[in-house]
Amino acid sequence: MKEVLLSTIKAAGALVKEGFSQEFEISHKDGINNLVTTIDKASEELIVQTIKAHFPDHGFVGEEFGNENEDAEYKWIIDPIDGTVNFAHRVPLCCVSIALARNEEVIMGAVYNPMMNELFFAEKGKGAFLNDQRISVSSKSTIQNAFLVTGFPYHFPETKVHPVDIFAKIVKQGFPVRRLGSAALDLCWVACGRFDAFWEFNLQAWDIAAGYLLVEEAGGKVTNFSNQPYTIWDKESLATNKVLHEDMLQLLLS
Ligand code: IPD
Ligand code: CA
Ligand code: CA
Repeated sequence: MKEVLLSTIKAAGALVKEGFSQEFEISHKDGINNLVTTIDKASEELIVQTIKAHFPDHGFVGEEFGNENEDAEYKWIIDPIDGTVNFAHRVPLCCVSIALARNEEVIMGAVYNPMMNELFFAEKGKGAFLNDQRISVSSKSTIQNAFLVTGFPYHFPETKVHPVDIFAKIVKQGFPVRRLGSAALDLCWVACGRFDAFWEFNLQAWDIAAGYLLVEEAGGKVTNFSNQPYTIWDKESLATNKVLHEDMLQLLLS
């Protein structure tokens, strides 16, 4: 399964990289500026067909073509391009994200940014890697110096406090906060220590499943905003280097 995961994500990444400099069609999905391109669809098609040829009994949760064989023991969770709005505007901050869950537990995940030639991979209990080099989260222990990243959903959830108000509050306190436009990369960049923490409201399983395992296997922590262990169906995500987790919860919720 690891071999199939890695060869499939490399093939999908090559397709995305080739598509990046070619003509493609863009259409709008539900929400404000929620885009999809013909390359997103081609990437998901390639991933599903390749994996299915190896594992016909496995299930799929894909962003563009939906669920298939949902009750299967093994399920592949696919974001064929994470960072589609970047991709559609020729900004090379985008990736392919594929996770493998067994009975709802993520056991393997890969995220590939073909434009930067960065392939992130993690396997449950076996660590996290960037291009075959072991990675770990940052060792920063003071929240005042934290370098943060977040994202905004296409649909704002009905929450007591608006995500943009939380963002404004944190920025006003002087924290450097980035918004890359790809949740999967945000998580991987926490996993390899570039960022100290990432949070977002309303992510979908395909945005986060692989990146979540990367962060945990790199020594970080992922929970919802109530500090409950993360499940791929959670709508609130906080990923940190673990040391700053409590401080980040405080910062978000105070
Ligand atoms: C989006 C990106 C973005 C995040 C959005 C996601 P997409 O995924 O991950 O960073 O803020 O919430 O929906 O549409 O590019 O696959
Ligand atoms: Ca996504
Ligand atoms: Ca996507």
